[in-house]
Amino acid sequence: MDNSKSFSIGLVGLGTVGSATLKLLENQLININQKSGKKIIIKAISAKDKNKNRNIDINKYDWEESPLALAEREDIDAIVELVGGSDGLAKKLAYTAIENNKYFITANKALIAKYGYDLHDKASNKDLAIYYEAAVAGAIPVINSINDGLVSNNIISIHAILNGTCNYILSDMTNNSNSFEDALIKAKELGFAEADPTFDVEGIDSAHKLVILGLLAYGAKPDLKKVYVEGITSIEAEDIKYANRLGYKIKLICIASLEKNKLDFRVHPALCLSGSICSGIGGALNAVFLEGDYSKKLTFIGEGAGAEPTASSVVSDIIHAAKSNKFLNSFRSIKNVREYKKITSRVGKYYIRLLVNDKPGVLASITSVLNENGISLDSVIQEGNESEENKYIIILTHDCNELNINNAINKIDSLNSLIGKSYLIRVENI
Ligand code: HSE
Repeated sequence: MDNSKSFSIGLVGLGTVGSATLKLLENQLININQKSGKKIIIKAISAKDKNKNRNIDINKYDWEESPLALAEREDIDAIVELVGGSDGLAKKLAYTAIENNKYFITANKALIAKYGYDLHDKASNKDLAIYYEAAVAGAIPVINSINDGLVSNNIISIHAILNGTCNYILSDMTNNSNSFEDALIKAKELGFAEADPTFDVEGIDSAHKLVILGLLAYGAKPDLKKVYVEGITSIEAEDIKYANRLGYKIKLICIASLEKNKLDFRVHPALCLSGSICSGIGGALNAVFLEGDYSKKLTFIGEGAGAEPTASSVVSDIIHAAKSNKFLNSFRSIKNVREYKKITSRVGKYYIRLLVNDKPGVLASITSVLNENGISLDSVIQEGNESEENKYIIILTHDCNELNINNAINKIDSLNSLIGKSYLIRVENI
């Protein structure tokens, strides 16, 4: 190693990920220096509260009250942003760092999902790069894999579980027969959930990560409005129970694929066959199932959140930046703007949950609406005690078009015997 070459970083944010990043850098500095071929120097730090107890001695580093001043310092080569949020400080830091000729490294999916395309552009115009391996699937090197290991391939499809909180909640509902609400409380206690868990449970966090993968795999400029996003808040303990009885587990799935030159980007709950790898991804784990035209199918499973797994990716990015490794900057720019497929054009199986007032002829009236819309049935479960007035009817369809199923559901929901609204879950072959 040429020790005369140094690479200085400015670290902004000392929360759980920031502190773990600092600890990893300190503990592994000799290895990291060897691997990067540079002497990595933690030049300065900025965070909200200097005096918070963090179990790390930060007094040996320069302290900057103003994070933006850090991004303007001439003695710093890269800014590591670990504050989060798509706008505000994170955005200012990113643009200020690039303007001031610095590499920008972040774990911030919301920022990259919103401004990643522009930041890439600005950075590459200055022969710099931005790095965000930690923004998607925590420790899993999926961004590196798409841009480096699989760069020879056209990516046919990406199916993924990208939100640890939702996966934890669904696993807990499955394994412990817990309600959604109770499982969410546990996920919050374990610290998986975002500050605002709405982003997790409504699928927004997953959509942020999905559009980042879409940018790299298909050159699709991130645009959340183009992605169909549905979260897990309507899933009830009964859905987990009946799905299980039908031979499925429920997962929050992210899908990005290119079919006949149209992009199909969506996030929604899905029934996955019990016994499949996907259905076995438990707890807060993440998984990415990638298919390249030459690589064929690949599966990545690992920790998608948490201090150390995230720090693992952040520090890998610091090493890439120190080596001036710019492959992470190589997404295909969009020469042809591609259309997005509408969710209504989906063809596949559907699970339908209905709660009905149990009167003679209810099931017949429902199946006749499905029949009128050309939907044929795979399985039907009707359950409830003799004494109970209301019963669940669970239907699993054969392949049909989402437009037809929507038409049928609208009509079924208006039947007098229906209590509340029906609930649909797509069945995916993953
Ligand atoms: N809230 C996120 C999750 C953290 O649950 O996956 C990692 O991005």
